[in-house]
Amino acid sequence: MLYPQLNPYRQMTSLDGFWDFRFDPDEEGKPAGWSGGFADGRPIAVPASWNDQFSDHREYLGTAWYQTRFDRSWGWEDKKVFVRFASVNYLAEVWLNGTYLGQHEGGHLPFQFQISALLKPEGNLLVVRVDGALAPDRVPPGNVPADPLHSFANSVNYPPGSFDFFPFCGIQRPVLLIAVAPTALEDLTVTTTIQGSTGSVHIRLERPAGSAARVRLQGHGADLSAETGGDTLALSVPQAAFWAPGAPNLYDLTVELLQDGQVFDRYTLPVGIRTIQVVGDALLLNGQPIYLKGFGRHEDFPVTGRGLVEAVIVKDYSLMAWIGANSFRTTHYPYSEQMMDLADRLGFLVIDEIPAVGLFFAETGLSRRLQVCRDYVRELIDRDKNRPSVIMWSLANEPHSRPQAAVPFFRELYDLAKSLDATRPVTIVSHIGVDDLSFEFLDILCLNRYYGWYTQSGRIEEGLPLLAQEIDAMHEKFHKPLILTEFGADTIPGHHAQPPEMFSEEYQAEFIERTIQTIRARPFVVGEHVWNLCDFKTGQAVHRVQSLNLKGVFTRDRRPKLAAHKLRELWKD
Ligand code: GCU
Repeated sequence: MLYPQLNPYRQMTSLDGFWDFRFDPDEEGKPAGWSGGFADGRPIAVPASWNDQFSDHREYLGTAWYQTRFDRSWGWEDKKVFVRFASVNYLAEVWLNGTYLGQHEGGHLPFQFQISALLKPEGNLLVVRVDGALAPDRVPPGNVPADPLHSFANSVNYPPGSFDFFPFCGIQRPVLLIAVAPTALEDLTVTTTIQGSTGSVHIRLERPAGSAARVRLQGHGADLSAETGGDTLALSVPQAAFWAPGAPNLYDLTVELLQDGQVFDRYTLPVGIRTIQVVGDALLLNGQPIYLKGFGRHEDFPVTGRGLVEAVIVKDYSLMAWIGANSFRTTHYPYSEQMMDLADRLGFLVIDEIPAVGLFFAETGLSRRLQVCRDYVRELIDRDKNRPSVIMWSLANEPHSRPQAAVPFFRELYDLAKSLDATRPVTIVSHIGVDDLSFEFLDILCLNRYYGWYTQSGRIEEGLPLLAQEIDAMHEKFHKPLILTEFGADTIPGHHAQPPEMFSEEYQAEFIERTIQTIRARPFVVGEHVWNLCDFKTGQAVHRVQSLNLKGVFTRDRRPKLAAHKLRELWKD
């Protein structure tokens, strides 16, 4: 899916701002015809979650309705016009001028509808019904009844999600109107290879038949072009400037479509020439071993909830640069396109994760959960396939995958991901470890462990040998490199203790430092991701003071704890 862009051939208009909004706890909206417009709405900000914008519905995850009006821009009469939502959580149904456009399930991934034929010159009414409910056959699941195959006791959290973050809902990323030529470029896939100092850019175009295409690659002294009437071509870049952390070299690839020699469409894509491979016990970037230093994160901020806040994105990258990180995982859902744009531009390595946290394998709802995950895999790869920053796809975080049913489930998703993108490793992030049998076919081992926190609590010394023993056992069994994708300790900012004790800043710093020392003693470990960059909002639970997960090395408003300074010492080369 091409990200919208503005140029002499492509137009777009933002619909962000204040929309009309109504909660619909009694499901009156559909029978009352709110899809054609509703009265008595209240203003709501788009993009942002609804949960923290008001004082009366924080835990409301039911149905709510949004509406906004807009006029058709001049000159759009003969254009192909779409309305595009970058993320609506959890289920969106959309109407324009009372006509049903369709629905989309799952937050954090974009969807769009073509509306050319329905547009009026003025007074177009766009209505969205959002259903935020948690359910066992949704992904991520919630309201899961206690059962032997699902170890997460749902009574722990309120709202009862099978995951450790607040289930924010609403239109959480930008809404755009897009206008392009009727036979404009529909998709573009770019892969890159390296041979010595030469980079190759392999391009696949998708467009209606009948136009010629002209491509141009510019940057770092190169200015290459080629034309084709077909769909694929490749450009060879001698002495290429490869993409890597610390040297995020990007080229501009411009694709123009021509009819009778006249340009009628143009699309420009930043391209990073790089390769990523798992070879033996190593993770190779451009043929050289790479070590991931970074974090699990959340898109989370006061009041806006899961909503896009570009200033926080800039802040988080400046914090990660300050601390010496070179990577992060999009825990536990795809992050915004804006976040990913800066990963490409600033040179961060990203493990890109579908919103499959808390998966369980009881028969009830299993086929539906698999179908939703298939859709997520397709949509995420379609969205992020051209990004040099994305080095790996993660199919799940901490699935409860002891049951045998988990293996075919992940085998199918693995094969699907590989069929869509043969260039990147594919994994899951496990909290089961050596008994997670899907690691027989997954490309790299990812493990979350909290020895010294959830187990051997207060006894880091006792926990670390167990961590060492476990990662050695995993490597011995699967013979693949391993990333410790989560480790950390809740910490109350300003709480100090000597000797260190749990929840003190000293304990978090020691926990992180000693865990890093332990895993780095093993050559098959290729990465360390601390949980978490920042404190973040969770559901209410006895183990979540202020309904926050306090494992951040920065507070929720981005102030450093002692562990941030310790990590900077360890990571800042
Ligand atoms: C798990 C999980 C995280 C969670 C963390 C914790 O590993 O992946 O989402 O926040 O543990 O309990 O702090």
